[in-house]
Amino acid sequence: MDMINIAVLVSGRGTNLQAIINVINRGGIDGKIRIVLSDNPEAYALKRAQRNGIKTKVVHYKEYRSKDEYEQEIMKYIDNYRIDLIVLAGYMRILSPNFIKKYPYRIINIHPALLPSFPGLNAQRQAIEYGVKISGCTVHFVDEGVDSGPIILQKAVEVKDSDDEKSLSRRILKYEHRLLPRAIQLFAQNKIQIINKTRVHIKK
Ligand code: GRF
Repeated sequence: MDMINIAVLVSGRGTNLQAIINVINRGGIDGKIRIVLSDNPEAYALKRAQRNGIKTKVVHYKEYRSKDEYEQEIMKYIDNYRIDLIVLAGYMRILSPNFIKKYPYRIINIHPALLPSFPGLNAQRQAIEYGVKISGCTVHFVDEGVDSGPIILQKAVEVKDSDDEKSLSRRILKYEHRLLPRAIQLFAQNKIQIINKTRVHIKK
């Protein structure tokens, strides 16, 4: 089985990164994380990667004169490592259309709501404030909108009357940790088929 080369982009604590690492370590993904890239030098995700012997690189946003130069630097790593799949795992910046166009259907993101509901920041808080009874998480391809590309996998999660943002986030997060590695494995196995640019079919 061919192994795909994966890059993970992070900004923060990296529990989703950890979930991917754990599944890879048990042989559940036909791929290897070649590099973890962070825009934030303080991201705890970097420590998780290092502990597992994964190469890391901080591309510190503030040190670049423009978003374009910042992204050029990221692309350099993506290209040098011959990355097949870019995984956004708690990466807090919007990628520019130029970046996205360069890697069509090769960037995926995990979002803590059932898209197209509650895109953008604080999705769990949005769900609580709206009063929905069901929320969940979504893995989708990244296109030029915010949290708007073709949906690969979703998992519904109940919202309880007693929930606040924190308890709901915690419950959803558990499912994120299963959904994201599963989507990566489907990609690695070449089982993701895109129909009419918007719909994803999973091959059996
Ligand atoms: C997750 O809730 C993810 O859905 C969102 O950002 C959070 C990242 O958490 N995009 P972590 O850094 O993976 O722990």
